[in-house]
Amino acid sequence: MNRLQDKVVIITGAANGIGLQAAKTFAGEGAQVVIADFDEEKGEQREQELLAEGLTCTFVQVNVADRGSVDAMVDSVLSGYGKVDILINNAGITRDGMLSKLAPEHFQQVIDVNLTGVFHCTQAVLPAMTAQGKGKIVNTSSVTGTYGNIGQTNYAAAKAGIIGMTKTWAKELARKGINVNAVAPGFTETGMVADVPDKVIDKMKAQVPMGRLGRPEDIANAYLFLSSNEADYVNGHVLHVDGGIMM
Ligand code: CAA
Ligand code: NAI
Repeated sequence: MNRLQDKVVIITGAANGIGLQAAKTFAGEGAQVVIADFDEEKGEQREQELLAEGLTCTFVQVNVADRGSVDAMVDSVLSGYGKVDILINNAGITRDGMLSKLAPEHFQQVIDVNLTGVFHCTQAVLPAMTAQGKGKIVNTSSVTGTYGNIGQTNYAAAKAGIIGMTKTWAKELARKGINVNAVAPGFTETGMVADVPDKVIDKMKAQVPMGRLGRPEDIANAYLFLSSNEADYVNGHVLHVDGGIMM
């Protein structure tokens, strides 16, 4: 029995990395997946790849930092599918730098995409989910949002802010039948960590009791659980998927 049969799922940032794996995992469970990503070329390519594997998906281009773009994406999903059951707020960027050198525009860019983008997408799906009386929202925080990380002032602020929004929305939206939770991944093998210096990766790995970085499927499986009926009584939770890096 598929766990997400006929559910309509928007996954932001699904053209790459964790979001792409989530698109495959969710579609494999019977969901109709919307790959909502800024990267048009990769998004279209991923749509074709998943369709060729017999999975149901559509690519819709969006910039989560731009409210007009987000509203247009959600409108197009509603006119195509008539509903939105699940929103995975996964899109994110880094612009790392030590505080002493961090450019103000890099601070702002990360806040705009990683924090304000989550606000835009969630507010945009809210009328549809409220009308349905049921919905699941999963936000993507990070080990950086709970414990901090050298070189990530901007990113840590956004990812900690996501936890605050998750708990606030879990309280506000429960009465509307909407569950809101977050996943906080540890360092995970995607393009996002590709530019991190090896010496930093080695330090991180040494702190993980499981001795390895996360894999996209580790995080996608957490998204799946929090999106499924099995998590109907889980609300306002931050699920750490980090091999136990910090306890
Ligand atoms: N953890 C531990 N030590 C770190 C560190 C980190 N995250 N980042 C830098 N350091 C250390 C360096 O190893 C270096 O130590 P030594 O002086 O002993 O060699 C020292 O801090 C200074 O670093 P740099 O010489 O690299 O300084 P820089 O100004 O040239 O560059 C930087 C600064 C851009 C922050 C660079 O160090 C860097 O990219 N660090 C990695 C930042 C990082 O961890 N980003 C995570 C990206 S993945 C992600 O964001 C996903 C997620 O949710 C975790
Ligand atoms: P990635 O870089 O592989 O993929 C991110 C995707 O987001 C890309 O497809 C990109 O085009 C898209 N995107 C970027 N800006 C966008 C925008 N404005 N609008 C729409 N889409 C946009 O990154 P990864 O690793 O898959 O990250 C996914 C999420 O997981 C992010 O929120 C990230 O912060 C978080 N995370 C990642 C960790 C890691 O170590 N890889 C650890 C903890 C959290």
